[in-house]
Amino acid sequence: MRKTRSAQTPIHMSSSEVRGANPLTLPSTEAERRSRRVFALFPLRSVTASVSVGAVRGTRVNEVRRRRQGADAALAMARPGQRSVQAALIVLCVAQLTAGLRCACQLCANRTCETAADGACWNSVMLVDGKEETDRSCLSPAEMKGQVFCYSSRNVSKRSCCFTDFCNNETLRLHPVSPEEPGWSRLQLALLILVPSCLLCVGVLAGVLLVQGHRCAYARACKQDPEEPLDDQVLMSPDKCLKDLIYDMSTSGSGSGLPLLVQRTIARTIVLQETIGKGRFGEVWRGKWRGEDVAVKIFSSRDERSWFREAEIYQTIMLRHDNILGFIAADNKDNGSWTQLWLVSEYHEHGSLYDYLNRYTVSVEGMVVLALSIASGLAHLHMEIIGTQGKPAIAHRDLKSKNILVKKNGTAVIADLGLAVKHDSTTNTVDIPSNHRVGTKRYMAPEILDETINMNSFESFKRADIYSLGLVFWELARRCSVRGLHEDFQLPYYDLVPSDPSVEDMRKVVCDQKLRPSVPNQWQSSEAMRVMGKLMRECWYANPAARLTALRVKKTASQLPVVRDVKD
Ligand SMILES: Nc1ncnc2c1ncn2[C@@H]1O[C@H](COP(=O)(O)OP(=O)(O)O)[C@@H](O)[C@H]1O
Ligand SMILES: [Mg+2]
Repeated sequence: MRKTRSAQTPIHMSSSEVRGANPLTLPSTEAERRSRRVFALFPLRSVTASVSVGAVRGTRVNEVRRRRQGADAALAMARPGQRSVQAALIVLCVAQLTAGLRCACQLCANRTCETAADGACWNSVMLVDGKEETDRSCLSPAEMKGQVFCYSSRNVSKRSCCFTDFCNNETLRLHPVSPEEPGWSRLQLALLILVPSCLLCVGVLAGVLLVQGHRCAYARACKQDPEEPLDDQVLMSPDKCLKDLIYDMSTSGSGSGLPLLVQRTIARTIVLQETIGKGRFGEVWRGKWRGEDVAVKIFSSRDERSWFREAEIYQTIMLRHDNILGFIAADNKDNGSWTQLWLVSEYHEHGSLYDYLNRYTVSVEGMVVLALSIASGLAHLHMEIIGTQGKPAIAHRDLKSKNILVKKNGTAVIADLGLAVKHDSTTNTVDIPSNHRVGTKRYMAPEILDETINMNSFESFKRADIYSLGLVFWELARRCSVRGLHEDFQLPYYDLVPSDPSVEDMRKVVCDQKLRPSVPNQWQSSEAMRVMGKLMRECWYANPAARLTALRVKKTASQLPVVRDVKD
């Protein structure tokens, strides 16, 4: 059965009607496919399509002409015997050419249709509900003459007319929109604007988060002690003076000192001024930090253990006390060829008690203030404070006038904790292995000199400290001026041993001869001097257990009538 396009569709539909239809929402039932094909036949006007109507006709005529010329040429070349057969064949060919075309047809029986002469095969595809639907059929000459646009290539429809048998038996495909295709849809334009702007926003947001993340990580990294509630930037704000820093130290965090990074920052912004002292482990300098004086004890690299030990002791929890040198910072600075080990502390312009007493005499009141503050410092050092923020008992082991400093207000602080040992009360041991004889020989207790000291008892170390305290009190009392009378400054046993005595020199005097510094008679004329004399004798008993405790010395000194409230 022959079926042509004219039989299926009203092709003279107005283009405005067609334009109003939306191909994307067209119904997809078989009955409606025909009306869709009408849309395919009348798409929006296109220049290429209008040109192609004439081109289609021309192509068809040329092809027929070409076929006929080919048949004539074949006839002329054939031999006379075959001519009749060939003629018949040519007639058949020509008849075929003029008879029309056979085309693939989806809606026809046998899926085939035949066009009239000058007809064409039709093939189209269009997008319906997001799916491609094809249509193949025959196109009558009338349809060809009408407003049929055989060629179109849009993203929603594509059509073609062809002029050989079953030439429409191929599957047309809608191609994705190519960039050069004119006209952007609104959606595409919106995407074109939205996608880059969204990417930009996400980029900016990610950048901000990254910067914030870095800041937090930096803040966390700077916070070395997890219990430290103040951050280093707050601690190191430029308006902070030493007093504020020391106050922060004692009120915040673990109570053991400033965070290490703050310590290092302070140490590295100190400008050294002049040397003020020399001891066992190197030099002590006066330095300037933010316009304030600080003391810097510089250890040589071979004394690293001593530097570490002293810094460690100073940072013992709850050690800070009015009568213990105020520790500020420890720093180990590698300058390429050697390591500089610094210990920064509060600076006391009067220097050591040794220097002070060499230079000045003291009033009775001044003597008592000094004696009380030294005893208070030692009592704090010796005391164990129990609790989570507790402090172990500490023995100094090198108490002497050179290791006590005099503050501006006339009180004293105990310094040079490099030989100190801490008591572990749970195991009743000291925290470092201690050898028998450390400290300064002149101030060594008799039990140390003759090595009878019980190293297993921490009490022994405290008692040895008390012996030394008695000698310091003696040095101090000698310089007390009562009614204009005082003695010159002397070191203990100055009259009994050489200037740099050996242990043997000391042992002979202190242990064998049981000699002690002499207590002049005139000390009995003043109540304070009399108490001081009694205190020192009770501190340097040969029997360690008979000696006073630091707390007892403190109490006795505090009961002396001349003592006033000391304010900084
Ligand atoms: N904070 C300070 N302020 C003033 N002078 C100090 C200070 N610290 C130490 N000195 C001086 O330096 C000397 C040696 O200090 P010290 O800490 O005893 O060092 P060493 O461990 O070498 O004996 C002291 O006797 C004192 O004269
Ligand atoms: Mg010293």
